Amino acid sequence: HKPWPGLIEAYRDRLAIGENWKTITLREGGTPLLPAGHLSELTGCDVYLKVEGLNPTGSFKDRGMTMAVTDALARGQKAVLCASTGNTSASAAAYAAVAGMTCAVLVPQGKIAMGKLAQAVMHGAKIIQVQGNFDDCLELARKTTAEFPTIGLVNSVNPVRIEGQKTAAFEICDALGKAPDVHALPVGNAGNITAYWRGYSEYFADGITSVRPRMLGVQAAGAAPLVLGHPVSNPETIATAIRIGSPASWDGAVSAKEQSGGAFRSATDEEILEAYRLIARTEGVFVEPASAASVAGLLAARKEGWLDSGLTVVCTVTGNGLKDPDTALAGMPAVQPIPVDPVAVARSLELV
Ligand code: F0G
Repeated sequence: HKPWPGLIEAYRDRLAIGENWKTITLREGGTPLLPAGHLSELTGCDVYLKVEGLNPTGSFKDRGMTMAVTDALARGQKAVLCASTGNTSASAAAYAAVAGMTCAVLVPQGKIAMGKLAQAVMHGAKIIQVQGNFDDCLELARKTTAEFPTIGLVNSVNPVRIEGQKTAAFEICDALGKAPDVHALPVGNAGNITAYWRGYSEYFADGITSVRPRMLGVQAAGAAPLVLGHPVSNPETIATAIRIGSPASWDGAVSAKEQSGGAFRSATDEEILEAYRLIARTEGVFVEPASAASVAGLLAARKEGWLDSGLTVVCTVTGNGLKDPDTALAGMPAVQPIPVDPVAVARSLELV
């Protein structure tokens, strides 16, 4: 049994990587496809969680970043830049550190989860807070890299990022021995839904799988441009990772939905938080709020009859819950310390 080599080695024949390029990898990918017993019971389907929070920096962004930073290095770029709601910056910072490149991240002021900021700081990125939201940051990143071509843009508008991220679909098909019937995932800037659809489509075109899943893209209700059919100028949601009003990969998301016979839907912050707690308490998987949107959307879709029972369903949970401890602990009552006494322990468990 060989150790997992990282996704570039695992899927090299499906990625545009030069033979003698230096590969920048943290052995990302190869994440668990976890059978979700409780969600399966609730829906009458075979539900699996693709646990992307177990990537090296705790999110699916590492799949795109191993490609983007490897590519930037091969092009001779000295620095990488991204706009980010947090995960992209954590990932870019780590891969740039390995590559020995400078990394700068543009983040919306005050709206990024604590753990993600901590990662970018620890990996030595230059953190630039911008007086604007994610969409403003992305526009600024695009303009900056257009004007200064020695800086590589590592957002998912870089096509190489999408290439790396498509490997998650390969892994799912490889693990199941087939494509799922339905794939649910949270949608923000829409790179990931575009990437999954590309991955599923490649396996299908090569005859490795015989069907492609219906794609269910879930947005937060306060940041749901694809559901509404137009950009949202002031996106708001507790799921800060997907607080995006003008998705860069709009067309990719619409193609995925239309070609797959899928759907976009929104989940309210309450529904997202409910799903967030449910998967922590019943499946043992702690995800960040944005990730729970996929599960919230799936449960709502099942209730409304969009999803028949008996299907094989995969939900991507995109990021690790440890990134956002503030949301996890919000509203937790103050804890009263107890004496050093077994009876006091039992009493606090309401057992005596
Ligand atoms: N889930 C998490 C945890 C994310 O961080 C993101 C995007 C998404 C879902 C949505 O993926 O943008 O490909 O549709 N985060 C980006 C960032 C925007 O900057 O980290 P998408």
